[in-house]
Amino acid sequence: MTLAAHTPPKNPSRDRAGHPHQEDVASTFEQDRSIGDIIRDTKHLSQEQIDQIVECQRANGLRFGEAAVKLGLVTNADIVFALSQQFSYPYAAEIRQGAQQELVTASQPFGKQAEAFRAIRSQLMMRIFNPLEPKRALAVTSPEGGDGKTFFVANLGVALAQLGGRTLIVDANLRNPRLHELFDLPNTSGLTGILSGRQEENVIYQAPDIPSLFVMPVGVIPPNPLELLERPAFRLLMGELLRKFDHVVVDTPAGALGSDAVVIAARSGAALTLARKNRTRVKHLNEMITQLTETTAKLTGVIVNEF
Ligand SMILES: Nc1ncnc2c1ncn2[C@@H]1O[C@H](COP(=O)(O)OP(=O)(O)O)[C@@H](O)[C@H]1O
Ligand SMILES: [Mg+2]
Repeated sequence: MTLAAHTPPKNPSRDRAGHPHQEDVASTFEQDRSIGDIIRDTKHLSQEQIDQIVECQRANGLRFGEAAVKLGLVTNADIVFALSQQFSYPYAAEIRQGAQQELVTASQPFGKQAEAFRAIRSQLMMRIFNPLEPKRALAVTSPEGGDGKTFFVANLGVALAQLGGRTLIVDANLRNPRLHELFDLPNTSGLTGILSGRQEENVIYQAPDIPSLFVMPVGVIPPNPLELLERPAFRLLMGELLRKFDHVVVDTPAGALGSDAVVIAARSGAALTLARKNRTRVKHLNEMITQLTETTAKLTGVIVNEF
């Protein structure tokens, strides 16, 4: 996944042959040592087991964690937990991973995808979620269904929450809501209740295992989605949410399904568009961008989603 408007820097920790540079070897060692400490404390390893791991590490040129897994003394989930502790990263415990497979930023915080989301997060922190800018929510749009909007919103939400700020992701896809599924949350109440003035108890849920991340599902699917989104209530709600949360990201239906996405973008204040590599037609992408530029929303760029 890449930001088209931005070329991410080449991995600085590797030289041309892919070997780590000298100073990184030292930092890797430091990192391994403290991960070793975390594993030792949480798994109550004996000195004998530690010696075994160090021996295996030396013999096979492995990292501490890899050697511990190879010897069957800890699991991969223990290593992810240790890493998450070291870097103060919320992550999804193994027990929930079945239901939350799409949350790659939470389940594999040091994988390639999570790295891509962190790079995108940095760009957005400068362009949109910057204290010097007016406060805006970010609508995630794309021309077609299946381009990856919901996947993107959920994982960007996790990446933003990992910074510690209160982050809210809102499902405004009133036609085909799916954000709640990614977090294994119910969809019995939510945005549509507020927009139609119903009194509902739970409209915002804490995302399981991710402190600082909150999810607003759609709730009851309405017969008149566009009309609901055009009501003043939606504008007022967005203003209220922006006062209560540090970051607000909004999921939208496909541009091809009507004007919902454009209305949501206008109410959010900022928008980005996803294009699926080798799938999205340039014509459709241009139409989407043209429609968005006709609103007052700040258009931040196009993300090429490759999967
Ligand atoms: N970068 C990605 N890597 C892996 N799978 C992805 C990626 N982006 C989307 N997907 C998968 O593609 C499918 C459609 O994505 P979704 O987010 O529901 O699209 P949309 O919301 O645009 O309709 C989902 O199963 C999702 O997990
Ligand atoms: Mg979707």
